[in-house]
Amino acid sequence: MQRIAESELIINDRGAIYHLNLLPEELATTVITVGDPDRVELVSRHFDSIEVKRQHREFVSHTGRIGNKRLTVISTGIGPDNIDIVLNELDALVNIDMTTRIIKETLTPLNIIRIGTSGSLQASIPVDSFVASTHGLGLDNLLNFYRLEHTEEENQLLQSFITHTQLTTQITFPYISRASASLLKHFVTNFHHGITVTCPGFYGPQGRLLRLGVKNPDLINRLTSFSFGQHQITNFEMETSSIFGLGRLLGHNCMSLNAIVANRIQKQFSKDSGALVDRLIKHSLEIISTLP
Ligand code: URA
Repeated sequence: MQRIAESELIINDRGAIYHLNLLPEELATTVITVGDPDRVELVSRHFDSIEVKRQHREFVSHTGRIGNKRLTVISTGIGPDNIDIVLNELDALVNIDMTTRIIKETLTPLNIIRIGTSGSLQASIPVDSFVASTHGLGLDNLLNFYRLEHTEEENQLLQSFITHTQLTTQITFPYISRASASLLKHFVTNFHHGITVTCPGFYGPQGRLLRLGVKNPDLINRLTSFSFGQHQITNFEMETSSIFGLGRLLGHNCMSLNAIVANRIQKQFSKDSGALVDRLIKHSLEIISTLP
């Protein structure tokens, strides 16, 4: 087995992985990701005990317990480029020996659950509701740098999606990856289910027009009206597909839970998005703390 060089796997003076500033023993095998660093505390305040708090740049992490369940909550910042760092470093913490720099023979799967905000693309999914993503459909390109292989069904869905949305390769090359079935089945009551589209930006890539025009002005309509078999696009945001895609390649179980703060069809925004996110955190923790 090959030793991974210092330039590829960066370890700080504390012996912690560079960006996350975490040691292997400081990470639980159930990981909740949030975008906003300030939201980490809003999750860990529900822990019965906290054993470690770390921060480096936008990556704040708290590890503790609810009952016997050991959990880490970590902030990723916004967007798929940060997810590349977070997913690779979380995986390295459990699957690469940080002393010998060699990939372990026995790999450990993590449960990685995103709790984040999102915009609804269906009139029937109002602000202040929750969506559990069945799939992440990436317009963000991150997984095109890796060797993600689609199933036949995924290829057909993508082909149909590209034809329907008329997204050209000049804009993006979409990819798709499923949620972990073993996690998704726990998030049914109180959750809408559907495909979450992940965008590489909040404004143009999500069809928000302030002072700039966009190449595909009909994008929102075409996302809303897309269907493939029983699959429909419910919402969009900025992390899910990259978590699902990298998680799948690395062998982790991934889930994405979305608080719908905006409805882009009804042109509404939640009157109290803070309270909404708090409700999603509490409801999700009740489920996550009892996962096997
Ligand atoms: N996050 C997004 O990326 N888009 C929204 O509309 C709301 C939250």
